[in-house]
Amino acid sequence: MTIRIDVLVRTLAQALDLVEIAYLGATSNHGRRIAVLCAAMGRHLGMSKDELSALVTCALLHDNALTEYFLLLKENAEGDVSRLGAHCEIGQRNVEILPFRENIQGYILYHHERADGQGPFRMSEGYCPLAAELIAAADMIDVATPLHLIPLSELETLRRGIEGDIHQRFTGKAGEALLAVLDGEMLASLRGDRIEAATTSAVPAWVMDSGDPALLPIAELIAHIIDYKSAFTKVHTRQIANRAWVMAEHYDYDPAQKIKLYLAAALHDLGKLAVPSEVLEKPGKLDQAEFEIIKTHITYTRELLSGAVGLGDIVEWAANHHEKLDGRGYPLGKGETDLDFNSRLMACIDIYQAVSEERPYHPRRSHAETMPILYDMADKGGIDLNIVKDMDVAMAPWSGKDVETPKPN
Ligand SMILES: [Fe+2]
Ligand SMILES: [Fe+2]
Ligand SMILES: [Fe+2]
Ligand SMILES: [Fe+2]
Repeated sequence: MTIRIDVLVRTLAQALDLVEIAYLGATSNHGRRIAVLCAAMGRHLGMSKDELSALVTCALLHDNALTEYFLLLKENAEGDVSRLGAHCEIGQRNVEILPFRENIQGYILYHHERADGQGPFRMSEGYCPLAAELIAAADMIDVATPLHLIPLSELETLRRGIEGDIHQRFTGKAGEALLAVLDGEMLASLRGDRIEAATTSAVPAWVMDSGDPALLPIAELIAHIIDYKSAFTKVHTRQIANRAWVMAEHYDYDPAQKIKLYLAAALHDLGKLAVPSEVLEKPGKLDQAEFEIIKTHITYTRELLSGAVGLGDIVEWAANHHEKLDGRGYPLGKGETDLDFNSRLMACIDIYQAVSEERPYHPRRSHAETMPILYDMADKGGIDLNIVKDMDVAMAPWSGKDVETPKPN
């Protein structure tokens, strides 16, 4: 079986759009519009398939540091992170763990540079990689006036504005490429009802064998971005993925099964990106209305993953983690017969992590303090007793410690 990396990246970008709306009130699909524009510019400039793949992936994820950046801002209200360049640095560092075939140095780091050197890193024309110039050009134009809102009648004015800004905002190459691709057809393809299809055809296929350990960093990146949505859960997803790996080794899964389970674990709370931070970060007990909002994260997870072709069972293992064997879980109230082994396992791992990790309303708990809570839930018919017993064995060595990230060999 194979996994489509391009589909995973597109899904992550879609989830990141939801963060932009939650934090900035910004128009949706910004990342996808930048990707579609960059793909067209890259093709216009005769880039190879690998170059295009690296450019479009970075374009889709150019603002991947948003969750981490806003958390840093919150935690260091007066610190030196409150500058534009910080999200460029974090974003670049995050994507560098992906197994690109091209050297992507500077692609995201320099996505706010201007030809006249007035960007955060003062890199004037000729000092940044071409891909960064293209992402910056597309970003600048879409931030100034979101392109999906521009009527066709204003296209000429927009184009004249770009022409007049070459060697100031836009570098010569990027400005000319932007003018070459920005026509009425392009504007139409960036609109809300067409952007999905436009992105699908813009992103070159990137396929990997599901047993390929190079998939692990991709899962790690996704988990990292989700975890930074809330200070309370900074390690939640990564620890769940690492625990899933430990359990997969305990059960002697083959390499592809292990990686698929790890990926499902990394994706299980993807929908949290769409949940307002005030609710995720409420220090006390949630009221009913807030709990209803939290519960939507799982619906978003299922929706986002169902749109990602080729994930197969991974969607179920990720999206069933709040279902219970006795039908009292959410959101679908599934029962024993609907939940396969890995769905049950994911539910147990999620509970183990939530109970053992430090939260504002409870301290970190040791293995010995965590297990009775899981046994109690199993006794009441909510989770699988045999899996709980297996976790009692496999998790014991990690009591009170963070589980290590698996190292691909
Ligand atoms: Fe940015
Ligand atoms: Fe942006
Ligand atoms: Fe969850
Ligand atoms: Fe979770």
